[in-house]
Amino acid sequence: MPRTHLSKKAYTIDSEPFYLDTGDEMRLFEAAAAARLPVMLKGPTGCGKTRFVEHMAYRLKRPLITVACHEDLFASDLIGRYLLKKDETVWMDGPLTRAVRMGAICYLDEVVEARKDTTVVIHPLTDNRRTLSIDKKGEVIQAHPDFLMVISYNPGYQSVLKDLKQSTRQRFVALSFGYPVPADEARIVAAEGKVDVDTAARLVTLAGKIRNIREHGLTEGASTRLLIYAADLIRNGIAFKRACMTALCQPLTDDDRLQETLNDLIDDLQ
Ligand SMILES: Nc1ncnc2c1ncn2[C@@H]1O[C@H](COP(=O)(O)OP(=O)(O)OP(=O)(O)O)[C@@H](O)[C@H]1O
Ligand SMILES: [Mg+2]
Repeated sequence: MPRTHLSKKAYTIDSEPFYLDTGDEMRLFEAAAAARLPVMLKGPTGCGKTRFVEHMAYRLKRPLITVACHEDLFASDLIGRYLLKKDETVWMDGPLTRAVRMGAICYLDEVVEARKDTTVVIHPLTDNRRTLSIDKKGEVIQAHPDFLMVISYNPGYQSVLKDLKQSTRQRFVALSFGYPVPADEARIVAAEGKVDVDTAARLVTLAGKIRNIREHGLTEGASTRLLIYAADLIRNGIAFKRACMTALCQPLTDDDRLQETLNDLIDDLQ
C-alpha cells in the first residue's frame, strides 16, 4: 500500500493542459465521473482524445495512468506479476491495479488492439461490481471510489476481427470526437503551433478540403495534430507550401496520384 501512495504524485498532472471545449464533452465527462460510469472516447486519430483525458484528469484532480494497447498486451501486463528479486519473489502491481487502488483514471488507448483476455479483466471493473480479480494472488480488489476507466478507439480502423464486443461496448458511455469546427480548430492550431491566427486559418481551410476528398481513397483526413506539425514547420522558417506538403500531404498517403491532387489543393489556396 505505501508504494502506491508514493507513486500517486508521479501520475498527477500539475499544470493545466490546454484544451478547447468543442461542445458539451467536459460537462458529460464530469457527470460520468461523478456517477462512476466508464467512458469510451471514439474518434479519428489526432483529434484531441488524449489531450481531453489529460485535461479532465487535471480538472478532476485525479492521477492519470495511460496504457497504450497493442496485440501483445496480456492481462498480466495490466494486472501485475511476480518478479524475482534476489532470492525472493515480489509482487508488482500492473498499471490497472495501481489505478484501481489509488483512485486514478485508467486510460486504455486503442483498446481494440488489446488481446481478448483483457476484456475478462475489464468487465467486472466496468459494471456495478467495480472489482478487479488478481487470480495469481487469489485477491479481489474493490475499486477506489475515484477510479475511472476510460478507453479510446478509432472507429475508422474497425474491422470484423477487431471490434469491441457488444458486452464490452455496453459497459461504457461514449463520447464521440471529430475535428473541431474551423474557427475552434484555427484557435487550437494557433495556440499549439504558435503561429498567427491567419496562418492557422489557412491550414484549417486546407484541411477542410483534404477531408472532403476522402472518397478519392484517403482512409482518413488530415488531423488536427498534423495541422499543428505544419504550423511548427512554418514557425521554424519553412514556407507555407513546403510545410503543408511535408506535414499534411506526404504523411497521409503513398499514392502518387493522390499526392498530385493534394498538391493542387495547396496551389488553389495560394
Ligand atoms: N480541443 C482541443 N484543445 C486543445 N488542443 C487540441 C484539441 N484537439 C486537438 N488538440 C491538439 O491536437 C493534438 C493531437 O491530439 P491528441 O493527441 O489528443 O489526439 P488523439 O485523438 O488522442 O489521437 P490518437 O487517436 O492518434 O491517439 C494535441 O496534442 C493537441 O495539441
Ligand atoms: Mg491519443
